[in-house]
Amino acid sequence: MSAHEAGALHAEIGHAPVWLRQPADVNTLLPQLWPRTVERGADGVLSVGGRTVRELAEEYGTPAYVLDEVDFRARCREWRDAFAGGEVHYASKAFCCKAVVRIVAEEGLSLDVCTGGELAVALAAGMPAGRIALHGNNKSVAELTRAIEAGVGRIVVDSFDEIDRLTALARARGVRPRVMVRVTAGVEAHTHEFIATAHEDQKFGFSLASGAAAKAASRILHEDALELVGLHSHIGSQIFDTSGFEISARRVLSLHAAIRDEHGVELPELDLGGGYGIAYTSQDTPSTAADLAAGLRKIVAEECGLRNLAVPRLSVEPGRAIVGPAVFTLYEVGTVKDVDGIRTYVSVDGGMSDNIRTALYNAHYSATVAGRASSAPPILARVVGKHCESGDIVVQDEFLPGDVQPGDLLAVPATGAYCRSMASNYNHVPRPPVLAVAGGVARVIVRRETEDDLLALDVG
Ligand code: LLP
Repeated sequence: MSAHEAGALHAEIGHAPVWLRQPADVNTLLPQLWPRTVERGADGVLSVGGRTVRELAEEYGTPAYVLDEVDFRARCREWRDAFAGGEVHYASKAFCCKAVVRIVAEEGLSLDVCTGGELAVALAAGMPAGRIALHGNNKSVAELTRAIEAGVGRIVVDSFDEIDRLTALARARGVRPRVMVRVTAGVEAHTHEFIATAHEDQKFGFSLASGAAAKAASRILHEDALELVGLHSHIGSQIFDTSGFEISARRVLSLHAAIRDEHGVELPELDLGGGYGIAYTSQDTPSTAADLAAGLRKIVAEECGLRNLAVPRLSVEPGRAIVGPAVFTLYEVGTVKDVDGIRTYVSVDGGMSDNIRTALYNAHYSATVAGRASSAPPILARVVGKHCESGDIVVQDEFLPGDVQPGDLLAVPATGAYCRSMASNYNHVPRPPVLAVAGGVARVIVRRETEDDLLALDVG
């Protein structure tokens, strides 16, 4: 049975995971999955920001990450407006390059960086240092030095060793960095174990339950060289259930109140971190920034009311929710293989080197044939990459038209977060470029890596 025989694999739909519904029409784009300017034209070809994917593929090649700049800017503004009066730090680990940092700055957001490398990009892009927050469980002396010399807005301290290190550096320079204490609130976030961060048994933060967080705050309050501005908590990533944020906010505010009671200091700020989920498949129904903000504000106001606290200035650190939905990856199909009536393997010209999330977190993605519409009945397909590894899966299960064939362009939505930023050169595959498209104009914001780039590092 050939995958090219339209409809021949229809019977295999029985192998679809239970959550995956066969769409009435495989050409339909679900709005929650795609950047907002993406549409399928009358000729069936997808366009974004006024450019067709055929033009983009011809001009820039595949695979490529395609950023819808209008969509990205709109998401920045929605978060900024939702948290007006507070502060939104775009978590640059989701995707960091100078053009994106510039847009984030222009749209009035602040920036979360967690390494010297991200800090270097932020400063190179002109992000005002006062709007940068530095994270990390093992910041080096060099990273801390650079951060305080640049005058970053806050350093989120994560260990007693770091407090000692930062104190010494600040004293030696006669500066007084603003710091937050990262609190581990003991919340079991309902997400993949590797991206949950506030349960007790992990490397981040100071435990609330053991008293370490209170001790860290006390140590800083007794240290002239450091200014404690607030508590910070981040419970994990790709979280839909807001009850986790609610529990962590209540617990962190209990420490906030205890600090007031013990030290007579009401900390001016509170950071509830990032982690807000986005849609990767038809099954995901994320909240809007406005709803999340209203929910978090309500919880914080209630808790502060109960404890007779002034409401601290609220900040959050969304990465995925801002950049994730604004990008899709454009691939070209190379081979189509029907594996004995089980499923059809559609191989594309990238794979786990440009999207490791499927292999690493068992993540689910969606896909559509982007260069044309099709009236062929759907088949259940698995989109795989070109790497020498059977776990090299991009999209585990998706209904594609039964006539999907080599040369087709295939687009995978919601790849803006943690795809380019976690890309590798596995099998010496050069990393794809990032294109920003708006108003009919495409520009390369990160260029495609070349074999010369790879060989340039190979000095042996
Ligand atoms: N703030 C802190 C302190 C964080 O550690 C993170 C993510 C964020 C904010 C942003 O989280 P977001 O809003 O983007 O979910 N590589 C994984 C995600 C790891 C996230 C690490 N920290 C993934 O691909 O799902």
